[in-house]
Amino acid sequence: MKKERFICPYTVYDHLEELDPSDGELLRHAHEAARNAYAPYSKFNVGAAVRLANGAVVLGNNIENAAYPSGLCAERVAMFAAMAQYPGVPFEALAVTAWSATKAIDEPVAPCGACRQVMVEVEQVSKKPLRVLCQGDTGPVMVFDGVESLMPFIFLDKFL
Ligand code: THU
Repeated sequence: MKKERFICPYTVYDHLEELDPSDGELLRHAHEAARNAYAPYSKFNVGAAVRLANGAVVLGNNIENAAYPSGLCAERVAMFAAMAQYPGVPFEALAVTAWSATKAIDEPVAPCGACRQVMVEVEQVSKKPLRVLCQGDTGPVMVFDGVESLMPFIFLDKFL
């Protein structure tokens, strides 16, 4: 028997201004996208922004539905929109943020497992690491240099 550890490296920035200008800009786009959230049930308004290798930035926000499972997270809305609008263009980075009128969100939003699994596929297809930036409405920014730090022991197409 052997106990193992999985290390998930990430960087924390206390202020948006400390980030690379292009990352800071992507996070600002995510904040902007969160204004369009359609979240009447959870009132948790999420915004995501994806930057592609051709410089395009594609936004997404969460979209809920009275039949709850029919809704979709902001990250997947942004990633799917980017794949639909720019097929074959590699992804470089994804930023995610959230706000709520009912409570302060001052810690980074953690993408759900399903979004992480989609990030894995996006990273594989892009053939380069996907940078993931997470922030709340305010507060620190967590930066992951690749999806493996967010999704250990990932399911890959090589298993099929
Ligand atoms: N949500 C996202 O859009 N992204 C996340 O990373 C976490 C959760 C949405 C789904 C739902 O509309 C609301 O937030 C509450 O779960």
